[in-house]
Amino acid sequence: MKPKPKERIVLLRPYSPGKPIEEVKRELGLKSVIKMASNENPLGPSPLGLRAAENALKKINLYPDGGSYYLKNKIAPELGVKPENLCFANGSNELILLSIHAFASDPGDEIAYGFPSFLIYRLIAQSYGIKVIETGLKNFTIDLEKLAGAVTENTRIIFLCNPNNPVGTMNTADEVETFLKRIPPHVLVVMDEAYYEYADKKIFPDSVSYLKDKKNLLILRTFSKMYGLAGLRIGYAIGDESIISVLDKSRQPFNVNSVAQAAALAAFDDKQHVERSLKENKNGIAFIMGRLKQMNIEYVSTSTNFLLIKTGNSKKIFDRFLQKGIIVRPMDAYGLRQYIRVTIGLPEHNEIFVEELKNILFSL
Ligand SMILES: Cc1ncc(COP(=O)(O)O)c(C=O)c1O
Repeated sequence: MKPKPKERIVLLRPYSPGKPIEEVKRELGLKSVIKMASNENPLGPSPLGLRAAENALKKINLYPDGGSYYLKNKIAPELGVKPENLCFANGSNELILLSIHAFASDPGDEIAYGFPSFLIYRLIAQSYGIKVIETGLKNFTIDLEKLAGAVTENTRIIFLCNPNNPVGTMNTADEVETFLKRIPPHVLVVMDEAYYEYADKKIFPDSVSYLKDKKNLLILRTFSKMYGLAGLRIGYAIGDESIISVLDKSRQPFNVNSVAQAAALAAFDDKQHVERSLKENKNGIAFIMGRLKQMNIEYVSTSTNFLLIKTGNSKKIFDRFLQKGIIVRPMDAYGLRQYIRVTIGLPEHNEIFVEELKNILFSL
């Protein structure tokens, strides 16, 4: 007799992340590899965050603060909420897991989201054996009418990825407000705002302000993208105390390590790094989009730090890029077989990318 794993776990198709640089170097014998696949900050970590992380290393013999006290007290007033409205976790990924674990893990429970979107919602739901309802896009943007229409009495969570990965588009404040009015109070709306910092705040929903009237709302943000701390794994949820206290009960007591907490605290205040990152990103998008237009290549306008580009044959184009030492993201797992997703890089990387794209597409 062998230990018998649950069938639903055996059947899972593991998440396929962007390929790591070292792996590609090893596999292809390349000296230089550029990664434009995981929407990381190409400028590196916030310098203030990095210094704080280095300092924090001296105390890693101690367990971290299990309640992320300093972070909560720094960020809560900035957002106009109370520390009790925040829960920190090992990346916002963990918060997706905790929400499903705490609110949607019984047989018969359902979650819904517009698809293509972040694949982790599906994967975690499948690991709990719950039902997934995927609705579609309209003009490459999540169709909120369809999504609201998919709610049943068994729906426990709606995930709204805004701006939406891997497409890059956003749902505006007007759209989201109309949508929220249609969602019954038994459904938790998880607004995954991993790319919040990149979105145009003139039209982007001020989601935190909705918490005043809505108890069934949870907003997820991360230090992995704009702040450049993806490797340290830290993200947070903003929500009503009744929701946050449930997530807190579900998490491990020391889910956020001390180095990540120190780095995030300093990075949050690193306005210079945020400004530089935004500027580089904006310039990079303008540059790549300009070149795509010249080459008559279709793309989807973005509110993030990545671009969805119609190249035809996603997997083949990904492989061709890989041979050249450029890691992009094939989109076949998202049902977008004609597309690749590329993270905006440093100016020199963006140039190499468009040059290679030209070579690849026009030599096929
Ligand atoms: C939409 C979305 N949500 C969540 C995450 C997870 O981020 P974190 O690094 O905070 O776990 C990502 C990362 O790519 C993402 O794109």
